[in-house]
Amino acid sequence: MKKTHPTPSTEGIDLRDVQRRLGSWYDEHARALPWREDVSAYHVMLSEIILQQTRVDQGMAYYHRFTERFPTVQDLAAASEDEVLLLWQGLGYYSRGRNLLRAAQIIVSDFGGEIPHTPEGLSRLPGVGPYTRGAILSFAYNLPYPTVDGNVYRVLSRLFGSTEPIDTTRGVRSYWDLAEALLDKAHPSRHNQAVIELGALCCTPRRPHCDACPIAMHCLAHRAGIEEQLPIKQGKTKVLPRHMDYFLIRLPLASEGEGLLIRRRGAGDIWQGLYEFPLIETGETGVTVEELTKLPAFGDLIAALERPTFHPTPIAQCSHKLSPRAIYARLFLIEAEGLSAELPYQHIPSTERSSYAFPVLIERLLEQVP
Ligand code: ADE
Repeated sequence: MKKTHPTPSTEGIDLRDVQRRLGSWYDEHARALPWREDVSAYHVMLSEIILQQTRVDQGMAYYHRFTERFPTVQDLAAASEDEVLLLWQGLGYYSRGRNLLRAAQIIVSDFGGEIPHTPEGLSRLPGVGPYTRGAILSFAYNLPYPTVDGNVYRVLSRLFGSTEPIDTTRGVRSYWDLAEALLDKAHPSRHNQAVIELGALCCTPRRPHCDACPIAMHCLAHRAGIEEQLPIKQGKTKVLPRHMDYFLIRLPLASEGEGLLIRRRGAGDIWQGLYEFPLIETGETGVTVEELTKLPAFGDLIAALERPTFHPTPIAQCSHKLSPRAIYARLFLIEAEGLSAELPYQHIPSTERSSYAFPVLIERLLEQVP
């Protein structure tokens, strides 16, 4: 039988008291984060896009990099995608970086360089979803809109004792309704930041610090002793393996010195716009170099190599979680004396490799190369 969940409600909780307590706690305990000190809409947008799926301590360095290199939205809009991706390198989910650039271009071309201050305007920006919209409207413009991210789901689920899953359409809607009901409309910026901060510092996923929580006396999960069991997720996505075998092909340059073959990944898959070495994906483990180099997809490349030497064991291996996938990667070395045909790869000097943005997975492989 299908499980049903009671509709969460705010009944019986003194929302005004919760708001007051959250506000005072935030004034006293909030971390001094750079995007809280400078709440221009550009800086809020930048920080929130960087912080999606990224921890604050990791995101901080990237925030500084971007604000230093692109002090205004106009500076960002004028950048090339390659430059943005290079600055983004290591943060993962690269579509965020590409969307950030496109959003900046739309802000300059369609909004006179001003970040929109309506939900409709913000909805026109790629990469700006409901959370980032609410964050920009409330943090930057102090407008009375709620916002819900992972921290907020957790706080709301526990405070209101909601067992609605956070990964279903119905559940998501119910948490946005709760966030709207709880919002302190007189202080939307402070309120939304306070809920996020409480989730980050106090109402943590494991071992929450309920003794330091300003709203523990209202929290239904705390009263029932079930705070660590909330929030609930309906289903975990099954992890699917992907086997990626890369080839580091060392070849003399036409001028002088040693070169490598790389190419830019196209649309329709992970890491769009980043660079990589020639790659074969087989869907199987343990395929040998001999088998790989005979695959038709690799035929033209192998045929174009003059006097190639294939090294049979991988020079590096690693696995990488990229939800919902687990990637198993190997790097093989091929040395050759030249190229006898034009190929859809760039032949770059080995010394210039680090000026191209590669996925972290490949950087990790290269760290193992002697
Ligand atoms: N995580 C996402 N947005 C944040 C913010 N503005 N402050 C702290 N942590 C965050």
